[in-house]
Amino acid sequence: MTVRVCFVCLGNICRSPTAEVVMQHLVDEAGLGDRIEVDSAGTAGYHVGEPPDDRAVAEARRHGLEMVSLGRKVAPPDLDRFDLLVAMDRANWSVLREMAGTEEQRERVRLLCEFASDQPGLRDVPDPYYGGEQGFSQVFEMVSDACANLLEHLRRTHDLA
Ligand code: 4NP
Repeated sequence: MTVRVCFVCLGNICRSPTAEVVMQHLVDEAGLGDRIEVDSAGTAGYHVGEPPDDRAVAEARRHGLEMVSLGRKVAPPDLDRFDLLVAMDRANWSVLREMAGTEEQRERVRLLCEFASDQPGLRDVPDPYYGGEQGFSQVFEMVSDACANLLEHLRRTHDLA
């Protein structure tokens, strides 16, 4: 069985594609590429079809990772397709919860910071779009920490090797 995870932010060009590339790297490193599928999407459609923000691409490259996904907007079928939809902040979490039509779908909607090592569930990943490069390194750091814990969570809950 494949576990499917979709990271969700607003534009799908900064935070969620960063989480996607970080998580994909961790999954590949763990040899679980055939068991865990990773994707990302945005709740807004401003950047559909666009490559990730240059500043996010530069930050990922600093860590040896290449971002390849193009912006797409999250849609109701995603709530069936993915086992977990992991929102980068509470605003996007709320949009996904509103989109969910059933209790099962609502339970699939989570917050990235639930998986953070310190203060689980208490923080949003700040939107870096209108800020400087520092914001992008903070995003990368927060996402890396939470994704490592998310991978452990998936191993435990989905009986992965
Ligand atoms: P993201 O950042 O949600 O992390 O991809 C943003 C990207 C674009 C915009 C806002 C946030 N925007 O307003 O265009």
